[in-house]
Amino acid sequence: MEYTKKMLRDDALAGKTIVVTGGGSGLGKSMTKYFLELGANVAISSRNLEKLQNTASELEQETGGKCLPVQCDVRNYDEVEQMLQLVLDEFGEVDVLLNNAAGNFISPTERLSANAFDTIIDIVLKGSKNCTLAFGKHWIDKKTENKSILNIVTTYAWTGSAYVVPSATAKAGVLAMTRSLAVEWAKYGIRCNAIAPGPFPTKGAWDRLLPGDLKDKFDLSKKVPLKRVGDHQELANLAAYLVSDFSAYVNGEVITIDGGEWLKGAGQFNLLEAIPEELWDQLEAMIKAKKRG
Ligand code: COA
Repeated sequence: MEYTKKMLRDDALAGKTIVVTGGGSGLGKSMTKYFLELGANVAISSRNLEKLQNTASELEQETGGKCLPVQCDVRNYDEVEQMLQLVLDEFGEVDVLLNNAAGNFISPTERLSANAFDTIIDIVLKGSKNCTLAFGKHWIDKKTENKSILNIVTTYAWTGSAYVVPSATAKAGVLAMTRSLAVEWAKYGIRCNAIAPGPFPTKGAWDRLLPGDLKDKFDLSKKVPLKRVGDHQELANLAAYLVSDFSAYVNGEVITIDGGEWLKGAGQFNLLEAIPEELWDQLEAMIKAKKRG
């Protein structure tokens, strides 16, 4: 079985309406495509309406599903409320919020302006908060059931990471919000989960984060125990499961999908992987000799 195959049965998301922030490109687009293939209605949002419209018509043609492009800067609560209303007007109800929109600057922290730091916090943390609050209030007010929020975080939400400090700070907040609301809003029939993806190349983010030949100098697949980067369908499979009813008992979970990348950086002796077999023979002989002596 190929790991790039589609995982769920064809009607797994039939009858669901899903909002994907940042759904116009990259991983958001890949997840949107699979949700459409599984029978969901999907609204995609970002600041760039033209890009959204192109993506929506491309995906509608490819999948036969219904994809609504909605212009919305998630940093602005009024725009988020307007987006929600547009989705309700079009589809009648909304079942899933996928907080995927993000921004990131790779930079020594002391080189960032206060405004640059704020920009990332505003998109990632405030944007996820704005959407979560607007959708949550709506669901609670209407006494709906069987709703869910899925947040895209990152493994450095809990390890932290140098050179992406605003993003790490904001994603840690999103993870705390995920776990907190999983408990608080379960009584309203709202589940909250998160995915922490490792390296899944996308044109936009990777060209911006690792411009020029940096991509070759820092080959991220070398940091992964499985020695490869992720395939978009692998992430889409996991996301589709987490927003489907098959995961109805999964709540407050963050699922890492990174080929073991972050644990490789964490384990104290993991760098011993560089030791060749012959050297292990010598080391073993030395250790045994020491024991005998
Ligand atoms: N490094 C450091 N600072 C930067 C920067 C960079 N690469 N790019 C912009 N900034 C600074 C700007 O100078 C400005 O600060 P100042 O006002 O003190 O000069 C501040 O950040 C805001 O910049 P601006 O261009 O106005 O931000 P924006 O709100 O228009 O867009 C993003 C910010 C992140 C949304 C934009 O870069 C973007 O679209 N990125 C693509 C999405 C993305 O990054 N995805 C990756 C997901 S991991």
